[in-house]
Amino acid sequence: MKLSRPSKTPLVIITVLLALALVAIVAVGCRNSAEQAGSGAEIAGATEDINAIAAARGLTPNDIAAAVKTYMPSGMHDEYYQFASGGQSGQVYVIGLPSMRILKQIAVFTPEPWQGYGYGEKGTMGVLSQGGMAADGGPLTWADTHHPALSETGGDYDGQFLFINDKANARVAVIDLRDFETKQIVKNPITLSDHGGTFVTPDTDWIVEGGQYAMPLGYAYSSIENYEADYRGMITFWKFDREKGRIDMAKSFAIELPPYWQDLCDSGKLVSDGWVFCNSINTEMATGGVEEGNPPFESGASQKDMDYLHVFNVDKAVEVAAAGQTEMINDFPVIPLETAISEGLLYFVPEPKSPHGVDVTPDGEFMIVAGKLDPHVTVFSFDKLQEAIAAGTSETDAFGVPVLNFDAVMETQVELGLGPLHTQFDNKGYAYTSLFLDSAVARWSLGGSFDELNDDPPWTLVTKTPVQYNIGHLSTAEGDTVSPDGTWLVAMNKWAVDRFAPVGPLLPQNFQLLDISQPGTTMPVLYDMALPDGEPHYAQIIKADKIKAWDVYPEVGWNPHTQSVDPNAPKQGEEKVVRDGNNVEVFMTAIRSHFTPEHVKIQKGDHVVWHITNVERALDATHGFTIPAYNIHVSIEPGETATFEFDATQDGVFSYYCTEFCSALHLEMMGYLMIEPSDQASTGN
Ligand code: CUA
Repeated sequence: MKLSRPSKTPLVIITVLLALALVAIVAVGCRNSAEQAGSGAEIAGATEDINAIAAARGLTPNDIAAAVKTYMPSGMHDEYYQFASGGQSGQVYVIGLPSMRILKQIAVFTPEPWQGYGYGEKGTMGVLSQGGMAADGGPLTWADTHHPALSETGGDYDGQFLFINDKANARVAVIDLRDFETKQIVKNPITLSDHGGTFVTPDTDWIVEGGQYAMPLGYAYSSIENYEADYRGMITFWKFDREKGRIDMAKSFAIELPPYWQDLCDSGKLVSDGWVFCNSINTEMATGGVEEGNPPFESGASQKDMDYLHVFNVDKAVEVAAAGQTEMINDFPVIPLETAISEGLLYFVPEPKSPHGVDVTPDGEFMIVAGKLDPHVTVFSFDKLQEAIAAGTSETDAFGVPVLNFDAVMETQVELGLGPLHTQFDNKGYAYTSLFLDSAVARWSLGGSFDELNDDPPWTLVTKTPVQYNIGHLSTAEGDTVSPDGTWLVAMNKWAVDRFAPVGPLLPQNFQLLDISQPGTTMPVLYDMALPDGEPHYAQIIKADKIKAWDVYPEVGWNPHTQSVDPNAPKQGEEKVVRDGNNVEVFMTAIRSHFTPEHVKIQKGDHVVWHITNVERALDATHGFTIPAYNIHVSIEPGETATFEFDATQDGVFSYYCTEFCSALHLEMMGYLMIEPSDQASTGN
């Protein structure tokens, strides 16, 4: 059951607000015109004089319009979900648009106490421990999340799954959007650094994880003097099994690449379906060592005017991998570079120096590359690319990869401004590119099949809106699909500087909402949202009605890890404590306002597996469970069975209790775990 207000109510409210806004626009001249306060007409039904409020706060007519466009009255739901990378927090943020309210933080690569993620469930760290071990043998507990990717069907977001990568450790996570929980983490078997992920192919057959910093593949050692011989880049294609909701490692593979630093990638769509494009930097193969008198990386990697756009024939690569033309590195199949070349599944196209983003247009026809050291975006044509591949080339790079002719593949270049990074799209034939150095969003018109959609001449800068400040990625509604919406754009700004009240030297991120619904030069900033967490990188925005999230788990006893009823789920009336030698299994139920059993008596040295079923069916009737001293906390949502295990290493009396304020008698929702000392164990229970 949705809690949306009846559809008539918001219309009435909006009408009244618009009327108020109009009056205010007339009455309020500009900021600081406080002397005009109170001059506006009284509005029937309004409890306060809107003009007086606006004047007292120094709000302009534009401010009032922005407020009316973004304000969500209590109980009204947002039109869109934005899934934003949580950057160094290792998590994902779910934000409602246009209100910019945070709806959830999804625990992904980092322990999250409220959700009980990493605090005892399914062993000590749960899903988190799937993601490989840190150098000290313990689980990795942080990540640098970069690019979330929604699952697609036919090139459109389908609202079923979300994927995200960890640049710091080369991992990929799978989140199920029925319960907004992380189900799987895979560690890249051959490298420790990724960036060009995650991107999906148009039916989510493959999840693309492009590399970043070249290194000896398979976590091997080789000194930097052997860079050209031993260091390599890579791209990994993870096979996604939609039925199981999991990456199938056994059907996944990678391709060995030259030791350039592969950067962002994007999948082809429609005409370019079956192809993937990745940028690269440092085709100079600079190896740094500024302390030894070498050029520093940032200048060494910027010597050449051109780097290489990597073009992958994915269908061909899948065939080659399936035919076993691979070498195993850490038990993972890798297509050797020479095979990739001889089988014609890898081509290079020169691209202006040190590019960052490559983005494929909604029709799949153009690949837009933004070079951060070049004021232009370069538009490549997929048709021309196919002609160039068919015509062949005798030019190669140092490793024998065929290099196609830049002029033969390029469609056009458009000058936008300083520091262009990433490009997104709308439904009006416009592209939007973030300009890092200009701190602006550029709107420009596309050509080709998009030319008819607006009155602006093709391939032209239309307008720029300043943003605050240093924008990285930007994200438009349904912006990576074959049919973008053209409603909202979020500028993901790296620096906030003066936008918010001071909170010490570490400032929040600034997400700014832009209204891109009007064509031409109108593209106002409506809202600044402070995000108090790591640098979020990228986000995707999906229409809210595509998300089919469960209100409660479908059946009582549900195991979210298998997305089915758990055969071990405790049932009401059958709660028990079962002993088998030193192994103890607890079957417990939770309902407002008690746990059953309320006494659990075990012995020091026991290994304990503890199941709790929340038998509630009411929306939001979540219980939490903790045992002091044992660092255990789980969240048990309606219908869920949670399982955790621990060794009873410390004897004593432990008051377990419900951590969610679930009812008036929530404080009484507790019990005692009695762990007898070993020397009294013979007295038993
Ligand atoms: Cu259950 Cu508080």
